[in-house]
Amino acid sequence: MKNSEYPKLSELTAARPLARPVYFKKVENFTSTNGKTCVAIHAYDGYTTVRVNVFDITAEVLQNRGVVEKKVYYCKFIKNDRGFVNIEGDPMPCNDPDIRVSDFGQRIPQDAEALYAKIVTAIESVRNTSYGEDTLADLSLKILNGIKEDFIRSSAAISMHHEQEGGLVLHSFNVSCAALLMLKLYKELDGELLVCGAALHDIGKIKEYNTDELGYATYSPLGQGLGHMIYGIELIDEYAKTGNYNKERVELLKHIIASHHGELEYGAVTKPCIPEAVLIHSLDDADAKLDMFKKIYKDMAPGENTEKTVFGLDTKAYKPSYLN
Ligand SMILES: [Fe+2]
Ligand SMILES: [Fe+2]
Repeated sequence: MKNSEYPKLSELTAARPLARPVYFKKVENFTSTNGKTCVAIHAYDGYTTVRVNVFDITAEVLQNRGVVEKKVYYCKFIKNDRGFVNIEGDPMPCNDPDIRVSDFGQRIPQDAEALYAKIVTAIESVRNTSYGEDTLADLSLKILNGIKEDFIRSSAAISMHHEQEGGLVLHSFNVSCAALLMLKLYKELDGELLVCGAALHDIGKIKEYNTDELGYATYSPLGQGLGHMIYGIELIDEYAKTGNYNKERVELLKHIIASHHGELEYGAVTKPCIPEAVLIHSLDDADAKLDMFKKIYKDMAPGENTEKTVFGLDTKAYKPSYLN
């Protein structure tokens, strides 16, 4: 039976348990409120990810029973009246010959090459030669061209937003497009700095994450140690070594990368100190949050709040009653 023919996890209710193959994206230990080690299984059916908490056990014990992440299992799911999902019995290896691991891949529906080409066009449209012959646009295009393969494949996150193959190019395209639109409204802004900053703000993610063949990202060995802002700045330094770029403008481009998370508590190296950096921070934040809503809404009933505060949104989300 094909994956699309099984009942979906989004159809699971307290009254209707369901059994189906799922991909275990992550099997990780966590500590419960009473201090015990438990395991969270992030089960994905190709459409929705559901977190299943298994109490009084560790990931290592599960591993000894043959339950590990990045594999497909056949599970029976039940939902209790409080909305928590459990797996009844042990996850079984999936032996349906029609089910393949590739059924559980995550990739953007858009054409990544086309998005990349649109980012290039956006940068070319704002090239500014008044600061010298070698422009920020030239530098940005040189960088993108040098990292193109990784840039169009990479996920933009491990979780939260645009966490799929091609997520980085989609997110960078959205922020660049929004920057171009804002430029029409705020003509005093430095268009070249703004759009190049938008396109490059997350380029360091190609080094922060490894995106596997199914589109799932994990931290590279030193990914968390330096983070994508430092990696992005390093990339700019590397490519700016050759060419005669305006030094101050290159510094400001690096400032946009360093400050795009807005606040130090959200990982920013520094806070935005020029208007273009303030705007990139806002557009980046908006695009990430809108993507989170898109995903959350898939699993929400109209007219309802999420049960808990959504990580990343810092609030409970509401889905208007007139939406499907
Ligand atoms: Fe970022
Ligand atoms: Fe971003």
